[in-house]
Amino acid sequence: MHKGLGSAVNLVQLLLAESVRYGGTVVDATAGNGADTLYLARLVGPKGKVYSFDIQEKALLATRELLEKAGFAGRVTLIQAGHEEIESFVTGPIDAVIFNLGYLPGSDHSIVTRAGTTVVAVNSALNLLRPGGRIGLVIYTGHPGGGEEYAAVENLAVSLDRTRFNVIRINFLNRAAHAPVVIVVEKAGA
Ligand SMILES: C[S@@+](CC[C@H](N)C(=O)[O-])C[C@H]1O[C@@H](n2cnc3c(N)ncnc32)[C@H](O)[C@@H]1O
Repeated sequence: MHKGLGSAVNLVQLLLAESVRYGGTVVDATAGNGADTLYLARLVGPKGKVYSFDIQEKALLATRELLEKAGFAGRVTLIQAGHEEIESFVTGPIDAVIFNLGYLPGSDHSIVTRAGTTVVAVNSALNLLRPGGRIGLVIYTGHPGGGEEYAAVENLAVSLDRTRFNVIRINFLNRAAHAPVVIVVEKAGA
């Protein structure tokens, strides 16, 4: 299905795909309803591995159901923990990490990713990446704490050494001020 440039999630998925190897290891840092985990599970193939984090059991149950329907559950480890603990569960080098920040659509809006833990998690993800690996983030600024979280991620992104990381941002130029923003970081040296 052609999802187009209007979907920030689609843009991140497309930009990560080039760094994901068949048989590789990747992380979904925010499983939610499982759409990104499903996408990554398809890309890594039967010998690949996806680690998928969420703090909500409800999210991981929805993700498991989606994976089972697709026949991909065997290549995914679901972890009920904050992504700030990623290095306790995953050893590198890994190909890609996706962060679809904010809250679970249709669920409790107070259970939301937050600036402090997101920054810890992104730093951990950068440690785990292989050369040529990428981190993709979809960041929402319209909810309480969203602006602060965006500023924290942007601060981190602009401070990265340009000889070690390629960093890009995508903004929708003809949408509302609170349209989601995409940031992708690639570890140089593949
Ligand atoms: C926008 S949703 C993710 C959408 C998902 N990728 C999908 O395809 O449906 C954000 C998710 O982040 C989770 N979350 C919030 N804080 C977290 C944390 N510290 N670590 C991991 N997940 C967290 C929420 O529970 C929520 O399910």
